[in-house]
Amino acid sequence: MKSNNKIVLITGANSGIGNALAEKLIAENYFVIGTSRNGKIENISSENLFVVALDLTDQNSIENANSIIRNKFKGIDILVNNAGIAPDLDKIKPDFESLKLTFETNVFGLVNFTETILDFVNENGKILNISSIMATLNQVSKIDSTAYRMSKSALNMYTKTLAARLKDKNINVNSIHPGWVQTKLSTEGAPLTTEFSANGIFKLIETEMETGTFWNAELQEKMVW
Ligand SMILES: NC(=O)c1ccc[n+]([C@@H]2O[C@H](COP(=O)([O-])OP(=O)(O)OC[C@H]3O[C@@H](n4cnc5c(N)ncnc54)[C@H](OP(=O)(O)O)[C@@H]3O)[C@@H](O)[C@H]2O)c1
Repeated sequence: MKSNNKIVLITGANSGIGNALAEKLIAENYFVIGTSRNGKIENISSENLFVVALDLTDQNSIENANSIIRNKFKGIDILVNNAGIAPDLDKIKPDFESLKLTFETNVFGLVNFTETILDFVNENGKILNISSIMATLNQVSKIDSTAYRMSKSALNMYTKTLAARLKDKNINVNSIHPGWVQTKLSTEGAPLTTEFSANGIFKLIETEMETGTFWNAELQEKMVW
C-alpha cells in the first residue's frame, strides 16, 4: 500500500460517479476499497485499490463483504455510500415494483451495510451519503420520480439521525448532491461529467462540513433539506 494511509470505502465504484471518485481519490494518494456487484472494477489498475463484491440487496453479500474488509484492514476513514438505483426516474406514477426495488437498494441495503460496517469506521472519520437535490422537501415543484425522491429523502433522515448518534465519536455524516451527472442512471441532458462531480465531492471530503448537513458538490454550498 503506497498512499497517505487514508482508507476510503466507496460502494458502487465500478461505474459513474463512484468510479470517477475512486480514480480521483487514488490520484490524490488515498487508498480505495471499491465495491461492485460482480467483484470487478475493470478500468482502474492500482496498488491503492482493493475490490470487494457487494450487492446491497443480498444479506450474504453484505456479511461476506464486511468480513473480507475486516480481515484485510484495521479500519476505514471514510465511507461513501454511493451505490443507488432510480428505476422510476422521470416516471409520473410510482409503480409498486420500482418503489420496492428502490427502497431495497437505496434505503434498506444502504442502512444495513452501513450499520454492519459502522464500528469499523475510525474515530474522526466521515460518512458521505450520496443523495440528490430531488430529495429536497422545500423545493418540490415536479411530480415525477416518486420512489427515487422518497428513497433519497429517507436517506437524508438517516444522515441526520446517524450524525447525532456519532457525534461523540467525532464521525461526521453528511448528505451530498453530486450534481446532474452523465451516467447510466441519469436522464439525457445531464450537463456534468463524472470527473467534474468527483472533483466536487473530493473538495467536500477535504472541507470541514458541519455534521448532519446537506451539500451540493457542483456549487460547493450547503443545501436546504
Ligand atoms: N447521475 C446523477 O445525475 C445523479 C444525481 C443525483 C444523485 N445521484 C446518485 O449518485 C449515485 C451514483 O449514481 P450514478 O449516477 O453514478 O449511476 P451509476 O453509474 O448507475 O452507478 C450506480 C452504482 O450503484 C451500483 N448498484 C446498483 N444497485 C446496487 C446494489 N443492489 N448493490 C450494490 N451496488 C449497486 C451500480 O452497480 P452496477 O454497475 O452493477 O449496476 C453502480 O456501481 C447514486 O446514489 C445516485 O442516486 C446521481
